[in-house]
Amino acid sequence: MTDQSTSFLGHLPVRRIGFGAMQLAGPGVFGPPADPDAARAVLRRAVELGVDHIDTAQFYGPDVVNDLIRETLHPYPEGLRLVTKVGATRDDTGAWLPGAEPADLKHQVEQNLRSLSVERIDLVNLRRFERDDPDRVEPALEDQLGALADLRDEGKIDMIGVSSVHAATVRTAIETVGIGEVQNPFSILDRSDAEVLDLCREHQVSYVPYFPLGSAFTGGPAALAADPQVAAVATKHGVSPSQVALGWLLAQYDRLLLIPGTSSVAHLEENLAVADIHLDDDDLVALDKVEPRPVGH
Ligand SMILES: NC(=O)c1ccc[n+]([C@@H]2O[C@H](COP(=O)([O-])OP(=O)(O)OC[C@H]3O[C@@H](n4cnc5c(N)ncnc54)[C@H](OP(=O)(O)O)[C@@H]3O)[C@@H](O)[C@H]2O)c1
Repeated sequence: MTDQSTSFLGHLPVRRIGFGAMQLAGPGVFGPPADPDAARAVLRRAVELGVDHIDTAQFYGPDVVNDLIRETLHPYPEGLRLVTKVGATRDDTGAWLPGAEPADLKHQVEQNLRSLSVERIDLVNLRRFERDDPDRVEPALEDQLGALADLRDEGKIDMIGVSSVHAATVRTAIETVGIGEVQNPFSILDRSDAEVLDLCREHQVSYVPYFPLGSAFTGGPAALAADPQVAAVATKHGVSPSQVALGWLLAQYDRLLLIPGTSSVAHLEENLAVADIHLDDDDLVALDKVEPRPVGH
């Protein structure tokens, strides 16, 4: 690692603060945004400010977010890393369809290659549902990882990641195919993934928390603003509660990469400015006392 602001996405050097594109779709991550020009402005500003890691999915919209990324940013700047996820699809009504068999995964990777207009995707996460719905019967993990490894052999994927998974799945993925990241929900409001974070530290695997602000679906940013510990640290540094929450995440692990999602240029700029905030030991001790709260998906 060269400095505090850079780290690694698997073997690729990236800035520690990237951009999650999920908030660019319409309400409920379905359909187009109310103002597509505003969504494009967020993407353009992100790259202008040096973002070199964007997280997306074909099922954001569906299709909407990948199309916005391609229309706005292609031809992509040198070094921009695009990360997507496979394992689910949505139809035109927004309904979730089964889409996690090995053949489905291969089809979804091809869709992402086309819609993003790239020959190879830097990292593809296998999005499992074992955390969201423990009763769901999923295809065998080894078969799913094998399908992605085939695509890696063919040069269509650089790295494989796993998302929304328990520690046992992370271990299997590390041992069988090797992974470039784990993408799981984790924030100062939801620290229930500490075991997987420890595993990533142990194996030096990049850890990319989703819902870093505690999840828009359950009022995460408002809960952060209402938390007395977060508010006190925010006041001390003259920054916002959301910035404190992101700064706390950066302090957890040097290969933790942020992909905060926003549909607003002002919030994007605020989130990227977190690279310049340095929380001290007193701040971190105070923030450990933040009351965890359940978050939704
Ligand atoms: N693997 C998975 O299953 C999975 C699941 C969910 C998300 N993800 C990925 O992870 C990324 C991050 O997750 P998320 O976007 O859902 O995170 P989040 O914790 O829900 O945060 C997003 C929410 O925070 C608000 N926000 C962002 N910056 C803010 C700021 N500086 N001040 C106040 N509010 C702010 C956004 O509203 P505004 O638009 O108004 O800023 C939005 O409501 C996603 O974009 C997506 O790429 C992956």
